[in-house]
Formats: sequence, C-alpha cells, structure tokens
Amino acid sequence: NKDTYLLNFKDYNFESSLVDADFIENLDDFEIRDDDVFIITYPKSGTIWTQQILSLIYFEGHRNRTEDLATLDRVPFLEYNIRKMDFLNRPSPRLFCSHLPYYLVPKGLKNKKAKIIYVYRNPKDVMTSYFHFSNLVVTLEAGNDMEHFMKRFLDGNETVWPDHRRTAMVYPFKVDVVLNNFSYPQFFQDLRSSVLKISRFLEKELSEEDVEAIVKQATFQNMKSDPKANYDEILKHEIGKRTDEGHFLRKGTVGDWKHHFTVEQNERFDKIFEKNMKNLPLKFIWD
Ligand code: PPS
Repeated sequence: NKDTYLLNFKDYNFESSLVDADFIENLDDFEIRDDDVFIITYPKSGTIWTQQILSLIYFEGHRNRTEDLATLDRVPFLEYNIRKMDFLNRPSPRLFCSHLPYYLVPKGLKNKKAKIIYVYRNPKDVMTSYFHFSNLVVTLEAGNDMEHFMKRFLDGNETVWPDHRRTAMVYPFKVDVVLNNFSYPQFFQDLRSSVLKISRFLEKELSEEDVEAIVKQATFQNMKSDPKANYDEILKHEIGKRTDEGHFLRKGTVGDWKHHFTVEQNERFDKIFEKNMKNLPLKFIWD
C-alpha cells in the first residue's frame, strides 16, 4: 500500500526509501547561497535532461570528456541525497535539482537567493512517463494499468505527489521574478536555442565549440548510451528495479500520451485539468 512507499510531510509525499527525515524537517533553514543554481521540476518533466545540460555548461571536464563523473554527483537532488553528499562543504557554484513544491523549499529560495530554472512538461506526457516509471522502480507503488494509475494521479489523495497543480503548477506564479521557465517541448524542438537560453540566464559564456559539444551530449541518443548520464547504474543498485527492462530514459518524445490514453480518459483528464488551471495568467507550451 502507499504508506510503505510514501512519507507524508506537511501534506507532501516524499519517496520514503530515498529521503532523510531529519533533513526535510530542517529544509526551511537549509542555507542557500546567491550563486546556487536550482533545477525545479515536477517528476518526469525533464529533470535528468536539464541536469545534463547544466553539468555540461558548468564543467569543462564534462564537455570535453576529460572527467568521468556521474551527472548526479554534479547536480544532486536536494531532498533525495542518494550519494550522501556533504552539501554544506560543496564549493560554489552548487548545482541542485529538486521536486519540492513551492511551500516547502528553503526560505532562501523564496527570498530570491540563487537562480531557479523551472522545467515543465505536458502533464499528459508526465503522467505517461510516470506510469511506466512506477511499474519499473521498487520505490514507488506499482502503477498497474493506465486506468488505475490515472485515478491515482488525478485524485489528490492517492497520487504519488498530491495534486499536480498544487505542487508544481503553482510554482511559476509564485516566483515569476527570478524564475526562468523552460519547457520540455522547447528542448525537444530546438535543443540548441534552449542551451543558449539557459547559458544566457546563467551568465555563462560559451564558445561555439562548447555549444556544439553540449548539444551533442545532451541528445536523447547520446544520453541513453552514456552511463554517466542515463542513471542505469543508479537505478539498478541505488534505487532498485522490479524488472530487468526499463530505463529512466524511456522514449523521450512529445505526445507519447496519445498512444496510451483512450478518448474517454483524455476527455476526463482535460476536464479536471481545465478546471484546475482556470485563471492562471501564464501561457504554457505543451506541444
Ligand atoms: S525524474 O525521475 O523526475 O528525474 O525524471 P525526469 O528526468 O524528470 O523525466 C524523465 C523523462 O525525461 C526524458 N528524457 C529525455 N527526453 C528527451 N531527450 C533527452 N535528452 C532526455 N533525457 C531524459 C525521459 O526519457 C523520460 O521521459 P519518457 O517519456 O518516459 O521517455
């Protein structure tokens, strides 16, 4: 049952096997530096992709393939410190990623220290990706079939993270001044422009050669075959898989939900989604 997998803390569900309860108790006070960079996403929205891009932008050794270090060690998860890194003694600029909802982030982030890159994706694709993932990893309750998972996803009490809108969609409106929004479909359509946009936001100057190298190493095909980028080892040894098949980098496309939703499920999703997203002033790029 879900209680085995989730740790509910202040109305938010953490993956219990990956989180340190003491750490989240004190999250609010976790000290944020002005030059910290945070990727914030709802799960399955392009986190690993953005981690890879950031790592490539910041680390020459990664870009030039002169250093052999996993992306996760360069851009660790704040709330899931799988490698037990000493965050307090990490040299600046520290790169992090996080799925935390706005109301739980350290107060330094709310006070607009650090740079935040918020990446979002069409929630139908998010759900599709999450569905497969929940059937793959031992840390999540199995999604079973799509109908079963959809109910969990759309129903605020049962879903892996309670209520997509509250935890993720609310973000862009709360921190609009510092927040730079990026979307998975934008990455997908034009990776080069997205890399340039991110590097400008981070005030990192890159040569033409650097940009080429980053784009090349951040494609789905390359990441899939690069053990430092695809998390296959982490999935196998540190997270745990239910079956041998399956990867974090599954399909990597826009619109895969169309192969999984029935017409009725799509209409149901739209109805709930439209109701929840009503009156939000931001335009999203979904496709
Ligand atoms: S997680 O578990 O929250 O960290 O997952 P996250 O990284 O946010 O999302 C995983 C999905 O992102 C896709 N992905 C990519 N797509 C295209 N290009 C690149 N380079 C890339 N890297 C990761 C990954 O395949 C998952 O989506 P699906 O739809 O399941 O394939």
